[in-house]
Amino acid sequence: MKIKKGIPLIDQHDKNGFYGGKFGGNYIAETLKRPIDDLTKLFQKYRKDRNFITERDNLYRNYVGTPTRFIKLENLTNYLGGAQIYAKMVSDANGGAHKIYNAITHAMLCKRANKKYICTDTGAGYNGKMFSMVAKKFGLGCKVFMGKRDIERQKPNCEAIKKNGAEIIQVNSGSKTLVDAVSECIRYWVSNCDKVHMGIGSLVGPNIFVKICGWSTAQISRELKAQLIEEFGEIPRKTKLINCIGGGSSAYGFWSEFVDYKKNHVEFIGVEAGGPKNSKLHAAPLSKNSSIGILHGAAAYCIQDKDGQINQTESISSGLDYPSVSPIHCFLKDSRRARYSSATDEEALNAFKLITELEDISPSLEPSHAFAEAIKIAPRFDESTTVIVNSCGDSLKDIDIIKKRLGSYSR
Ligand SMILES: Cc1ncc(COP(=O)(O)O)c(C=O)c1O
Repeated sequence: MKIKKGIPLIDQHDKNGFYGGKFGGNYIAETLKRPIDDLTKLFQKYRKDRNFITERDNLYRNYVGTPTRFIKLENLTNYLGGAQIYAKMVSDANGGAHKIYNAITHAMLCKRANKKYICTDTGAGYNGKMFSMVAKKFGLGCKVFMGKRDIERQKPNCEAIKKNGAEIIQVNSGSKTLVDAVSECIRYWVSNCDKVHMGIGSLVGPNIFVKICGWSTAQISRELKAQLIEEFGEIPRKTKLINCIGGGSSAYGFWSEFVDYKKNHVEFIGVEAGGPKNSKLHAAPLSKNSSIGILHGAAAYCIQDKDGQINQTESISSGLDYPSVSPIHCFLKDSRRARYSSATDEEALNAFKLITELEDISPSLEPSHAFAEAIKIAPRFDESTTVIVNSCGDSLKDIDIIKKRLGSYSR
């Protein structure tokens, strides 16, 4: 399985939508074939359209507030005494996380398709919040599908969704988390696709949703590349880009501009949710036990039983609590361009605590998994190594969980 040079990863699939010949594709109901074909045509047209790109770039600059900061974590670096540690502050983006990039593209496509309604899924609530923000901005009706369990654990984002005038559809099936929210959202779209545009909140789903999402979040690494050149005059020799992995949209965005660099020049490290320390449950299909299966219209590594039934997952992070992963990350794993590990709930909490004690930043529990890996590996290197963590979400949404687990919350 080989990655081609000079071609965006989102486009490195065969005619049936498979990356590396086996991941992704379009496992969809007959009724979705036409809306998916229409969306594919719409996106392929507008991704090359100058006016569309200019409008998007203006929104990224003036509405999202890009570029987000690239900062050195001086205290953490000194405390750990190894590699130089930096953070790309994607949580600076309007709304507090990377999900805004994909939401903007979908709202723009929804308008171009002359549809007045948009729907999406959410786990951590950030994707739902961002879709509610763009829906308000573009004058669209918006439904956000969210598991009951996530509604209970991500209250601040739910309040924001409602404040923006969007409707939260509570999902009571299955584990009542992200996986069920995506399923319900797709089900709703099947019956309403003539009037409603659907956006999936990560780099998952049938091929076209993977492409739209990756095309949107790639903004992160475009910015980072320019910031690295400004800071160092080049891309530093031993760079490690560490990102948490739920479906994989922030990691794709963080890495995509650097795919053609050699692994020992720019290494990609994805960190999945290892779940509670003393539990067998996790949400880490790339780094723990899983097998290739089909979920949400695509083939990918899945946490499933021998009959292909999806197994229960567990993570302190709603945004990482998903039993499968993007076909692109399966491709990056099998082609050995990226390596994947996991951090437990406790490691993520400890990382959050240390970071907020030492630095003036406050990552949500999803990027705290990535910080846990950085904290683990940085002491093994010297200052010639540059570790950069994508701090892709703000912790405010996790206030209740952090208070409960750490006794108090301070930013
Ligand atoms: C802040 C944050 N980070 C990471 C994720 C994980 O998703 P992805 O892997 O698509 O970036 C989420 C998902 O909700 C999130 O809200």
